[in-house]
Amino acid sequence: MLIKLPRSSDCKASEITPEHLYLSRRSLLGASLAGVAVSALPRIGSAEPSRYADVESGNTPGWFVEKLKDTNWQAVNVKGESITPFKDATHYNNFYEFGPDKGDPAANAGSLKTEPWSVVVDGEVGKPGRYALEDFIKPARMEERIYRLRCVEAWSMVIPWLGFPLSALLKQVEPGSNARYVRFETLQDPKSMPGQRSGFALIDWPYAEGLRLDEAMNPLAILAVGMYGRELANQNGAPLRLVVPWKYGFKSIKSIVRISLVAEQPGTTWQGLAPDEYGFYANVNPSVDHPRWTQARERRLPSGLFSPNVRDTLMFNGYADEVASLYTGLDLRKNY
Ligand code: MTE
Repeated sequence: MLIKLPRSSDCKASEITPEHLYLSRRSLLGASLAGVAVSALPRIGSAEPSRYADVESGNTPGWFVEKLKDTNWQAVNVKGESITPFKDATHYNNFYEFGPDKGDPAANAGSLKTEPWSVVVDGEVGKPGRYALEDFIKPARMEERIYRLRCVEAWSMVIPWLGFPLSALLKQVEPGSNARYVRFETLQDPKSMPGQRSGFALIDWPYAEGLRLDEAMNPLAILAVGMYGRELANQNGAPLRLVVPWKYGFKSIKSIVRISLVAEQPGTTWQGLAPDEYGFYANVNPSVDHPRWTQARERRLPSGLFSPNVRDTLMFNGYADEVASLYTGLDLRKNY
């Protein structure tokens, strides 16, 4: 995000879905959301049928196939807004471990090895340890959460995530009485992550993020393991990423390998790089501008020069009813 980005109108032609394809996807999608018989829909690999059009199959792990059988579909939805085509959600990404350009993660993240995967839980917890991903997945019922994703760079998408509440994992590891914040860390593996080998990267790896414990316990905060009815694509943060829909996208840290319960507010990647630009809270707020991007409006992808799709940004990204009470008495201009 410190790297100079194209202006909102500069979306590359290759990133824009031709309108006839986009419209046919939308009609298919509308049909699937209206509850068309699942067997009539396209299949992804050996897993469950996809509920979404034009979804590329991945290397679906066995545990994911099992979880799909009992998934609570559309547990949370966004009414009246189209879901972003799969192609856009998986080819316009920020994942600096795989390079600075929007297309780099899709091009380079194939090298990420996501199985086996473990997560270290440490700090102020009753049950610290190295957990296999399955330890967290097994007890949880998978839910589909269709959320807006608003990047601080003023673009946005609507993505159907599959995952489980972060609060479920936190309860499982038993936060201690001194725990006030949760810190997350991404994998550091320069061998598979070319961005971490680059001499030009400004980031002090590993990428780190944090939430206040009460934010982390909010029912909207989830850990995602899938999207569009399939497992997460590597470029979207496989196999485990955070999704905090009322905050700018950079809070939603990808490919998590460490979760620490801590007493003090942890340092985070973007706040450490440019504290005047990126705050710890990073709540979506149309009335507090970033020095380089107005936050009042956003470009909903796909959006191009000749078919701009620009809309007003909503306070807390439209989730004020669920989260505004977390910030009572906090000056959101200072605590951006
Ligand atoms: N997590 C890691 N580890 N590295 C990153 O570069 N980028 C963040 C966030 N999580 C990032 C990350 C930013 S800036 C955004 S906007 C979202 O991921 C983008 O998520 P998406 O690519 O799935 O849309």
